[in-house]
Amino acid sequence: MQVVKTVDEIRKMVKSWRKEGLSVGLVPTMGFLHEGHKSLILRAAAENDRVVVSDFVNPTQFGPGEDLESYPRDINRDAALCEEAGASVIFNPEPSEMYAPDFSTYVNMENLSKGLCGKTRPIHFRGVCTVVSKLFNIVSPDRAYFGQKDAQQLAIIRRMVRDLNIDIEIVGCPIIRESDGLAKSSRNTYLNPEERQAALCLSRAVKLGEKMAAEGEKDADRIVSEMISLIQAEPLAKIDYVEAVNGVTIEPVHKIEGTVLVAMAVYIGKTRLIDNFIIE
Ligand code: PAF
Repeated sequence: MQVVKTVDEIRKMVKSWRKEGLSVGLVPTMGFLHEGHKSLILRAAAENDRVVVSDFVNPTQFGPGEDLESYPRDINRDAALCEEAGASVIFNPEPSEMYAPDFSTYVNMENLSKGLCGKTRPIHFRGVCTVVSKLFNIVSPDRAYFGQKDAQQLAIIRRMVRDLNIDIEIVGCPIIRESDGLAKSSRNTYLNPEERQAALCLSRAVKLGEKMAAEGEKDADRIVSEMISLIQAEPLAKIDYVEAVNGVTIEPVHKIEGTVLVAMAVYIGKTRLIDNFIIE
């Protein structure tokens, strides 16, 4: 698997594909790839002639005291997974390649980034929108692939693409789970065995909420409060938020109408995990 480190090199490569009339898919990641990423790469490989996987732990989306330094990294392992899933190349720049020392231009999403994760991670989505815009400008893909696990991120990127007239199709892909239900995440590696077991309260809360909705519950507050009780019964869990919001605008909702996103962030020990489900 070819690993490209510079903007110039990846641009040249994509230009040569374009000359041949080939389509290009982009899978933006922060590396330490798992089955969730693999599902995005497989989908991108099925829908495009060439697939670029970006593998970059983006410093601008980490706040002070977050896990930028300790975020897991393993490019050799990532390269093996990319090869298996049918990627064409990995774009793995150094932070200095992406951010000049006097870098000062950011893409800021005004509304959708205020609630949910934005409350406790106030600069996070500005960093995400900035790096994703840069990757879009560098790679110029036809399509870009994002997981539904980061549901707020996906909604924000869709809005950014619409607002800034970016001519790239955004493809959202389903959450991939471990066999016991835990949503796949690079941060799961932080969990010790006891925490790993405790972390199942997130997917259990998702199942409970989905069941209530499937049985016809229309009161979003009741669904959320039952989910909160379930999570609070787990001694190692500390809730950041469990909320029902409109799936497009990320505004709070109290009734199940239209597309509702029920999303949560929960600390298991020191590890902050997210999960969600959509009610259509
Ligand atoms: O979802 C992620 O891994 C990151 O937020 C992304 C989209 C790659 C931007 O750094």
